[in-house]
Formats: sequence, C-alpha cells, structure tokens
Amino acid sequence: MEQFRPMRIGILGATGPAGAGLAARLASVGHEVLFGSRAVDKAKTAVDQLQAQWGERVNGLIPCDNAWACDAPVVILAVNADSVIPTVREQAERLAGKIVVSMANNLTRNGNEFNAVLPPHGSVAAEIQALLWRSRVVTAFHLVPAAEFADLNHSMESDVVVLGDDDEAREALMEITASIPNLRALDGGSLRNAVGMETFAAVLLTINVRHKMKASLRLTTI
Ligand SMILES: NC(=O)c1ccc[n+]([C@@H]2O[C@H](COP(=O)([O-])OP(=O)(O)OC[C@H]3O[C@@H](n4cnc5c(N)ncnc54)[C@H](OP(=O)(O)O)[C@@H]3O)[C@@H](O)[C@H]2O)c1
Repeated sequence: MEQFRPMRIGILGATGPAGAGLAARLASVGHEVLFGSRAVDKAKTAVDQLQAQWGERVNGLIPCDNAWACDAPVVILAVNADSVIPTVREQAERLAGKIVVSMANNLTRNGNEFNAVLPPHGSVAAEIQALLWRSRVVTAFHLVPAAEFADLNHSMESDVVVLGDDDEAREALMEITASIPNLRALDGGSLRNAVGMETFAAVLLTINVRHKMKASLRLTTI
C-alpha cells in the first residue's frame, strides 16, 4: 500500500448513507473523522452503530455537531443535496480557509429518468465556491454509491474524479481518495467541469434504473 498522511477530516451530515459509508471507510484506513450531524445525539447513535458493526476498524470516528466537524482542515459536505447551500451559508465563517468537498448531486426523477438541477452558477460546486469565497472548494465522490463505501469487507472498485481550482487542495483530496485501497483518484481539472460530474450522476442513475444494475465509474486504459 502507498504511504499517506493520516488526516483529520470533517463530514457534515455524516449520519446519511453517503456520509456514514465514507466516514467508516476513511476511519478504517487510519484517518480521524469528525462525524458531524445537526444533532450530536444522532451522530453518537450512528457512530455507536458503526463501532458495533466494525469494532476497532472505525476507532477514528468522533461524533460531533456540524459546527465542530468544520474544525478539520478538510470538510466534506455529505448533507442531502437540497440542504448543501443553506448548510454552507450557516457554516461559512467556520469553513473559511478550509478545503471544502462537494459530493452533491442535485437531481430530480422523472419516471425512469434522472436529471440534474443546476443552480445559477452552473453547478452546485460553483454555487458553493461563490458563497465560500474564502474556502478552497473541490469536488469528489459524485459517482461512488454509498453502499460501496459502507461495506468495509469489500474492496472499492470505483474511480473518483477530483475537481478544483486550487492545485494544492485538489492534490490533497486526491491523496485522501487514494489512501483508500483500490479507489483510484483522477484529476479532472477545475471546478468549471463540475457540471459534467453532477450531470453524469443523473445519467449513471438513469442507466442503473433502466438496466436494473448498480454501476459506478471505472475508466479503462487502452
Ligand atoms: N447516497 C449515495 O449513494 C450518494 C452517492 C454519491 C453522492 N451522494 C451525495 O452525497 C450527499 C449525501 O447523500 P445521502 O444519500 O447520504 O443523503 P441523505 O441521507 O438524504 O442526507 C444526509 C444527511 O443530511 C442531513 N440533513 C437532512 N436534512 C437536512 C437539512 N434540512 N439541513 C441540514 N442537513 C440536513 C441529515 O443529517 P443530520 O440529520 O444528522 O444532520 C442526513 O442524514 C448528497 O449530496 C448526495 O447527492 C450520494
């Protein structure tokens, strides 16, 4: 396994499937994870459940409220997509100077098709960066199903495209991503491309519904 620096990582809305799965996976490889929720008791209950399931493998999980989770140098926004903008507005002061990670896919479902709902700045990520002008916003994990993170007995199989305008922040997130065995981190460029990832999430979910499958992203080299 490649060497990596264990990091302190905050997750807002860590009680949902995506946040909890990602938190457990990050803790299992040695990161310290501030497991955030709007309600500390809810975070404690979720962490107790994960520790009952995985034991010492998730010792690095620390239950807390979302404000406390912003104490980490890298903060992942795992609240439901509708609540990302109000949440970053509420935490903007605490997130100043931090690497802030959007994984939000703001989607609507019309029958057996999903579509991305894109805000005025063109993507949820760009909208967040416009609000958090003192933070370094990156995006990642858009296409990784929560269930893939959650089962620590199964190795990951996805590729993760990381985007961001700040080179150092993007590289830091790629290092965190690559600290999870078999999760390949790929540099997809600046936040301008976030529209592509958020929209492709709608395409991927549509494929999954129409073909009755559970696909994630893996790029092949030819
Ligand atoms: N699920 C997936 O497979 C997947 C895959 C890729 C990307 N994503 C993205 O990851 C994010 C989380 O997905 P999810 O499925 O885990 O979401 P979720 O279960 O719908 O919500 C996650 C958490 O958001 C918090 N929340 C709910 N309403 C809120 C509000 N009004 N204000 C602030 N926080 C609120 C809740 O935490 P508390 O009650 O503890 O505060 C909840 O547990 C989304 O942006 C989604 O697009 C998901």
